[in-house]
Amino acid sequence: MVYIWSIGGGKGGSGKSFLTCALGRLLAGAGKKTLLIDLDLGAANLHTLLDVPYPAKSLSDFIRKKFTALEDIVLPTPVPNLFLVSGANDTLDIANLSYEQKTKIMRAIARLDYGCILLDLGAGTSFNTLDFFLISQSGIFIATPEPTSIENVYRLIRAVYFRRIRQYFTVSTFKALEEEAVQFFGNGAYNKPECMMQMVKQMYPEIGIRLDNDFAGYKFKLILNQLHKQDNAALGPQICKLIEKHLGLQIDFAGNIAYDEHVHDSICQRVSFLDRYPYTRTASDLRELSKQIVHSTGEQLMINYS
Ligand SMILES: Nc1ncnc2c1ncn2[C@@H]1O[C@H](COP(=O)(O)OP(=O)(O)OP(=O)(O)O)[C@@H](O)[C@H]1O
Ligand SMILES: [Mg+2]
Repeated sequence: MVYIWSIGGGKGGSGKSFLTCALGRLLAGAGKKTLLIDLDLGAANLHTLLDVPYPAKSLSDFIRKKFTALEDIVLPTPVPNLFLVSGANDTLDIANLSYEQKTKIMRAIARLDYGCILLDLGAGTSFNTLDFFLISQSGIFIATPEPTSIENVYRLIRAVYFRRIRQYFTVSTFKALEEEAVQFFGNGAYNKPECMMQMVKQMYPEIGIRLDNDFAGYKFKLILNQLHKQDNAALGPQICKLIEKHLGLQIDFAGNIAYDEHVHDSICQRVSFLDRYPYTRTASDLRELSKQIVHSTGEQLMINYS
């Protein structure tokens, strides 16, 4: 069975691509055939982080049917067992995929023969990002401990939630639902997920049940990255509680990743942070996270620390 994890965050620079590469290296190093897919369309740079020469083929070649199978655009990386589908050299229109194109990509991804697939998504709440989260069903939200980043990741999670509700309705029925919510709960209710869910359950009970099932089926995790020593290590679980209270969405806190200035150096020197600085707190945090993520799929991960 292939496990697909989307990795996204509300804010640019929170560490999505760094985390995707680090997890990819660890999973590949532990013997899992791993594929990274750069879906930060318009700003793809996983190839640079992985020190893969500028890719001659990428996702747009698959979308434009230059290659019929997704496997044909898979690139090797310098890391054994680790492969890449690049989003580089994609043009602007590819940054705004239609829902059908996204579903085509996801179907093709699910057919690939890899033990683990990680999708590096763009920052923010574009429909691409929301839909890839919803289609992959397993997702990692990443933020830094700064209030701006937390605010944005909360917005992203709320947008994922709203997008799912919205997908069950036509434009006009959803508009009517919003109007009912305002009548019932007062101004601004359409912006509050808990009010909208209550309205759905009242007006469309069957859809309410399906949505409850959908949300219960998602495996979402939160990671806080770039924690400095003085930061509150308990912030992550607090955010998850808040999300559950206000959105009714269960997000597991997966853990913190310590800030380390060597991350910058390793990226500039195009070397693997994990290989160059394996005994740092940050490297140890990443190893713990990779084990936890694999563990949540019901498997165990054996990491070679040498
Ligand atoms: N744990 C960390 N410690 C120190 N610096 C870090 C850490 N994680 C990431 N960084 C720094 O943050 C920068 C942004 O990371 P990254 O490119 O992975 O973010 P991103 O979320 O993918 O951004 P974008 O949305 O622009 O693609 C990196 O260049 C790196 O220098
Ligand atoms: Mg990135």
